[in-house]
Amino acid sequence: MDPVDAARHTFRSNFHTEPTLLVRAPGRVNLIGEHTDYNGLPVLPFAIDRATAVAAGPSIAPALEAVSTTFAPPATLPLDATPATVPEPWHRYLAAAIAVIRDRLDGRGARLAIASHIPPASGLSSSSALTVGVLLALDTLHTLRLAPDELAELAARAERLAGAETGGMDQRVIVFARPGALLRIDFLPPAMRPLPLPAEWALVVASSGSPAPKGGAARNAYNQRVVATRIAAVLLADMLGAQLEGTPLLGNVAAIDAAPLLVDELPARISARKAAAMAGVPLQPLVALSAGTFDPDAPLPIRQYARHVLTEAERVDLACAAVEANDLAALGELMLASHTSLRDDYRCSTPALDTLVHAMTRAGAAGARLTGAGFGGFAIAITQHGSEHAIIEAALRATGGPAFPVIPSQGAAVL
Ligand code: GLA
Repeated sequence: MDPVDAARHTFRSNFHTEPTLLVRAPGRVNLIGEHTDYNGLPVLPFAIDRATAVAAGPSIAPALEAVSTTFAPPATLPLDATPATVPEPWHRYLAAAIAVIRDRLDGRGARLAIASHIPPASGLSSSSALTVGVLLALDTLHTLRLAPDELAELAARAERLAGAETGGMDQRVIVFARPGALLRIDFLPPAMRPLPLPAEWALVVASSGSPAPKGGAARNAYNQRVVATRIAAVLLADMLGAQLEGTPLLGNVAAIDAAPLLVDELPARISARKAAAMAGVPLQPLVALSAGTFDPDAPLPIRQYARHVLTEAERVDLACAAVEANDLAALGELMLASHTSLRDDYRCSTPALDTLVHAMTRAGAAGARLTGAGFGGFAIAITQHGSEHAIIEAALRATGGPAFPVIPSQGAAVL
């Protein structure tokens, strides 16, 4: 069943009334530019034709009552709930959404029914689709008049409160995507540019067979990379004699010509505390997370992480040029190089993802790579129209799937 119909139906059967409104928020796939967003460096994602739908109506109680066709149990959250005070993992995303707009809700609750056909814990951003969908539903229901930029920013903040110190890619593309186009997103300074996907190209995604959860060990592995790349930014800035304001980002130094050359001079492993002392900067901005603090004494492999991020940012520029020049072979090479870098330097691939990327490439894909944070989840492949079937078959043989074509689609909308 279409998720919009499923959400409407679930609303009726749970709350015995019609929903006031329906929202549809798509999942996303990142074509290239992985683990660059939280460094203020560009990404090239698109929204997919699979979505989370939210049916919403007012609640008499000052609470968020929510039911999902994917996750149990249903939630009844007071409006002062925070992700830290709710035990159920999916309730944390609801609590985080409330937390970022609490002062605008003025005690007004809501009833929500949620349905999705984005595979959960897949790296296809089911969690951001949920957060954007819930925020857009509450915005519309209570006439909060959030500007699209604000919606994307609040959803990103909510996701960080839920535990992973993520960048803003997922929420921005889910809010701003256009049908038929990739969306290049820049963060320093903020900018967006749709790039139409050439008509003869096709995109396939496939599961590695293991989940890409956002909780537990995966969250820690993600946050470790966020902190490690901040450390690299501080040390590179120190070598270059540059001053960084606020949270140190590799994006602040990437544009300086000498920066990529100095990456090999970075220590192979260093803790945040030692790096802060070495560069003479405060420790706190290195280890502060929206939901806690990272261990300042953990030695982190910053040289290889920085090398991935800086080379990946260059690949995004080259990939945009390849899309605009209709050069599928060049784009495919860049995707394969991205996967290799994520596997060897960023260490966020898995043997199953590597096997999958190899299988799809052998079956004729011009390029393939893991997509999203990694540590499991899905890979994306690009090919000429007509070859999708062979690639899907190869993926199914390699991992058991699921594997399916995806079409660049419209961003979130109130229906
Ligand atoms: C997750 C995060 C994004 C981004 C990717 C890696 O999807 O939510 O912000 O960092 O990982 O590119």
